[in-house]
Amino acid sequence: MNELAQKLNDDLIKLNSNVYHLLSSLGKKLYYPKGILSQSTEASKKATRFNATIGIATENNVPMHFEHIQETLQGYSPENVYPYAPPSGIFELRLEWKRKLLRDNPSLQDKSIGIPITTNALTHGLSIAADLFVDENDVIILPDKYWGNYQTIFQVRRGGHLKTFKLFDEFEKFNVRAFRERLMEQVDAGKVIVLLNFPNNPTGYTPDEDEVQGIISVILEAAEAGINIAVILDDAYFGLFYEDSVKESLFGRLAELHPKILPIKVDGATKENYVWGLRVGFLTFASESTELLEILEQKTKGLIRGTISSGSHLSQTIILQSLQSNQFEVEKRQKYEVLKQRAIKVKEIIRNEKFKEVWSIYPFNSGYFMCLKLLKVDAEKLRLHLLDEYGLGTIAINSTDLRIAFSCVEEKDLEELFELIYRGNNDLLTEGV
Ligand SMILES: Cc1ncc(COP(=O)(O)O)c(C=O)c1O
Repeated sequence: MNELAQKLNDDLIKLNSNVYHLLSSLGKKLYYPKGILSQSTEASKKATRFNATIGIATENNVPMHFEHIQETLQGYSPENVYPYAPPSGIFELRLEWKRKLLRDNPSLQDKSIGIPITTNALTHGLSIAADLFVDENDVIILPDKYWGNYQTIFQVRRGGHLKTFKLFDEFEKFNVRAFRERLMEQVDAGKVIVLLNFPNNPTGYTPDEDEVQGIISVILEAAEAGINIAVILDDAYFGLFYEDSVKESLFGRLAELHPKILPIKVDGATKENYVWGLRVGFLTFASESTELLEILEQKTKGLIRGTISSGSHLSQTIILQSLQSNQFEVEKRQKYEVLKQRAIKVKEIIRNEKFKEVWSIYPFNSGYFMCLKLLKVDAEKLRLHLLDEYGLGTIAINSTDLRIAFSCVEEKDLEELFELIYRGNNDLLTEGV
């Protein structure tokens, strides 16, 4: 074991050995090397005459660049575009995102959390969490309605075992009882990763206050029963809450709850700020100990350095300037209203009695999606039929569930969309397929 990694681990054991035991074997080996980057950071503070450290080129005191590229980036100074961003992200951007987290999540006030570490959007943040905490055969508990890419991130890449519980109970509420059962199965293992995603993909569901209290008390009970728990909150669709669900991340409720619970927030600009291709996300840990937060940051930085090295500087600059713009809240509100109106319209459309004979609806109150539970036809068959006959794209999640992204259909077209799905469904029924 490298001596820097050993030192991080020794310190971690002294601060909170539960978190040490949560780490995967890769997580234990990770550290941030005192290599080119830390020497270069030192030089950027002290080398006032010449700085010949980092592997970029300069000319006339600015990063060397092509004019034909710079012409397309009017308004961005070369310093904020071309040099490498630090592996953990532009510091000012990280602070800005932390301010946003505190503004958006009342439960986070007075809680100790790290400075969000910039990732190459949420998939990367989830993948870092998987690398740090998931070993072969570790159990990841999550609802049975989940984003399919979790399989590659946690199972294929890390050898983890995804164990699901039914998201909804018989009252169409978050199934706290099933969640508890799954968690308590881990008492002997003494370790588990919990993965929660609200607003949920694919259903568009976020729990209400009572359900959240149930979720939190079950996690606390499991910790008190001796299980070390890393709770990953995938908040990809954060903020798009249209009804009476909770309107903050469960991260704030879990922070400082119990020494055996490590809350990990994965979020970012991708869906919240409508910049899917820019690839800017964040990974934030919560712990009462700032030294512990620093250790996790060092390990995360080591991982980033050894995989993507650093994220796009231009993308980070764009998001930083956006967060600092006085138009940010204004435009955010406008886009929220557009999506909310679409969700309301969908709710109005699906009240039509005729639909109830062919599908039921999973509860939804937030996010980009809603999900039909088909009662009479196979979801994949309907998906293909809708595509071939009506030029209509949907996602078949399994044999019964069809996900509809109302986020990318104009409000005026929603009625027609559901009519066509209904028609397609009936075609299959009359064909007897
Ligand atoms: C629940 C959930 N988490 C994470 C992601 C990935 O986000 P990103 O594009 O920022 O990697 C998605 C994208 O579809 C998602 O639905």
